[in-house]
Amino acid sequence: MKSLLKTLTETFAPSGYEDAVRKIIQKEVKPYADEIRVDAMGSLIVRKKPTAAVKNSKRIMLAAHMDEIGVIVSHVDKNGYVRFASNGGVFGRYTLGARIRFMNGVTGVVGFDKLESVDQAPSLSKMYIDVGATSRSNCPVKVGDFGAFERSYMEMGNRLVAKSMDDRAGVVVLIETLKSIKATPHDLYFVFTTQEEVGTRGAGTAAFSIDPEIGIAIDVTGTGDTPASLKMSMELGKGPCVKVRDPGMLADLRVVEWMASTAEKAKLPYQREVLLVGSTDARAIQVTRAGVMAGALSIPCRYIHSASEMVDYDDLKNSVKLLTAMLSRPVSF
Ligand code: CO
Ligand code: ZN
Repeated sequence: MKSLLKTLTETFAPSGYEDAVRKIIQKEVKPYADEIRVDAMGSLIVRKKPTAAVKNSKRIMLAAHMDEIGVIVSHVDKNGYVRFASNGGVFGRYTLGARIRFMNGVTGVVGFDKLESVDQAPSLSKMYIDVGATSRSNCPVKVGDFGAFERSYMEMGNRLVAKSMDDRAGVVVLIETLKSIKATPHDLYFVFTTQEEVGTRGAGTAAFSIDPEIGIAIDVTGTGDTPASLKMSMELGKGPCVKVRDPGMLADLRVVEWMASTAEKAKLPYQREVLLVGSTDARAIQVTRAGVMAGALSIPCRYIHSASEMVDYDDLKNSVKLLTAMLSRPVSF
């Protein structure tokens, strides 16, 4: 799982440009899938049909997003300096000093206008990318080009650090879950979605076409275990989080109970999640068509939306175990 995660996180796929990550996933899931298709928005839909006819079989959509936060070129000045806008939630404080890699392979460093105060991170509109050009005509990127953080994967014992753990950690968990399910009574749709970071767009359209009875997003969640962090109960290494609420969604209580009781029966660690900022694909799934029973299994992650997002390896392994246990048996509702 670690080497696949390294490959996935070192691949570039800003929102709207998910092709490179989709290719890797396609190759991994092919031997385990009954059907594979790519929809108009670029989401990869991998179906695993029920292996036995059972009463109370459900059509279940699982979603992990392929895209990562990034930037888009908005202007190139006469000296070849590149102004940019956020493509997803790129924050000023994480962008200073960053390196950006564009889809054509060009890299640049982020510079900034004179600081009003040395302790304050400027907004993105006061930053630019220096790609080594000296004029607009020799600048190797143009308006509309997409880029993302350039950063390699590393391991610190059990702690894994990379750009785009949001949500390649969820992607790897979904792939490994598909591989580990031996039999299922359910009609399962493993969906690797596009454009989550710009507003859960791919998940909404995929959910409309699949019309699931239950939807579950697998994504990262913030933690409350760093100095002076938000007061939240989620911690790294304490198990997958059963989402109860985030500002975009109230999880369906039946899904919450299903996750928690499955974890207890399987003696897997889990945490209850109330997230104070952010949301996931589960929100878009929940409000599609006439509404869907939805929830989320979250992977605790520190420094979300920085170029060094950190997860714990045990949390990934336990997330795979919990999802596998949930999807291998009939549900009671
Ligand atoms: Co995100
Ligand atoms: Zn995410």
